Amino acid sequence: MVSQHEDSVAVLQREYPSNSEILETRKKHFISTAYPYYKEPLQLVRASGCYVFDEKGNRYLDVIGGIVCISAGHNHPKIKQALIDMIQSDEIQHTSLLYLNQHATNLAQKLVSEAPQGIDKCAFTNSGSEANELAFMTARHATGENMVVNLRHSYHGGTSGALASCGHHSWRFRSQPVASVTSALEPNCYRCPFNQKPDSCHLECAQNVETTIQTSTHGKIAAFIAEPVMGVGGFITPPKEYFTEVAKIVHNYGGKYISDEVQTGAGRCGGNFLLTKELGIDADMITMAKGFGNGAAIGGVLMKSDISDALAGKFYFNTFAGDPYQAMQALKTMEIIEEEHLVENARQMGQYLKDGLLDLMKRHTLIGDVRGRGLLMGVELVKDRATKAYATEECSRLMELCKERNVLLGKGGLFGNVLRIAPPLSINREQIDTLLKVLDESFAVLSRS
Ligand SMILES: Cc1ncc(COP(=O)(O)O)c(C=O)c1O
Repeated sequence: MVSQHEDSVAVLQREYPSNSEILETRKKHFISTAYPYYKEPLQLVRASGCYVFDEKGNRYLDVIGGIVCISAGHNHPKIKQALIDMIQSDEIQHTSLLYLNQHATNLAQKLVSEAPQGIDKCAFTNSGSEANELAFMTARHATGENMVVNLRHSYHGGTSGALASCGHHSWRFRSQPVASVTSALEPNCYRCPFNQKPDSCHLECAQNVETTIQTSTHGKIAAFIAEPVMGVGGFITPPKEYFTEVAKIVHNYGGKYISDEVQTGAGRCGGNFLLTKELGIDADMITMAKGFGNGAAIGGVLMKSDISDALAGKFYFNTFAGDPYQAMQALKTMEIIEEEHLVENARQMGQYLKDGLLDLMKRHTLIGDVRGRGLLMGVELVKDRATKAYATEECSRLMELCKERNVLLGKGGLFGNVLRIAPPLSINREQIDTLLKVLDESFAVLSRS
């Protein structure tokens, strides 16, 4: 039974600083990389289920789930209670893997039980970036090779090694070292770099991974990394066959296949806890974060035993890896996803949402493409369906119009013209109807203006 617990949010119990006070302090003390969403940024102070509340008590339907982080729902009562119990019983607030503690091992057992066959080891980190860093280092250590092949338009995190594999100029820093990485062309069916259409396609994008290896490496690689749905890139959704072909190529050239499930994992795509398993991707490592912890700062790397064996003798230490509070929250999240059948809900509600978005597409020419899997849905906006000119301004305006109507969306894509929808997995029909109604109204207002 999907739990809808938003009624439990009490009225505001305290006073909050004004938005201008917070903005002023941010301006004074935050480094210049922090940009809030919206012309008039929102202060979010409370949350429950699929809703978040601002400092004045206004309620918003959160269909971006934090930033693709809320899977079981905001402040799920079971997670809240488990946190209260831990604090009240003076459970150790911090300990590392230098000591024994049941929370990390309970989580490891549960996580491995959801992994594809042959993947039976895991490591924990604080974030998705760190998970990918560990996966890169592991692949390089295990193969003795350096080169990592990534995809244009991909995003794998904000740390140095992960940014080196980022396919967006806007995220990369000046002088970002990108040594020992190379990029293959993106498997984007809407904007195919090979000018193919689905009926004439021969998976040229998969073949391009081989061409990239042959032309920009010495013929052996350490790893290939890809998101099964390319999140920051605008929910680019390659066909299933792409992954089968690419995994074969990667293995032929001696590389390890890293499947970055930071956004797609935790049941979001509606077929399995891991999309890698659902699509049958022959991955050697799977990286996770975001929805895995339902907002707790935890990431992880799943891997095959032989790769883990190759690390024997090395000492990898991460102070907060397996932290009892974070590990407990991730385990509870996994239990809730199972008990409340949230993967199935993501499948059903994802289909319902997709049908609704395709219906909107019939009325609103600004919509060029609707894509994604389960509750990871992208709506690409174009000025003109023939030229596919990026509707970047329109996308920002649409987000503002939805916010005025109490719905919070995300956006992505290299040119910021893709609306991103990734609500908590507990979303119901009524809430999706609200979202579709608000989108319909907002598109209508936008086209009138
Ligand atoms: C696919 C993917 N991988 C990795 C990351 C990095 O995760 P984190 O921000 O937790 O470091 C992100 C973050 O957006 C992501 O979308």
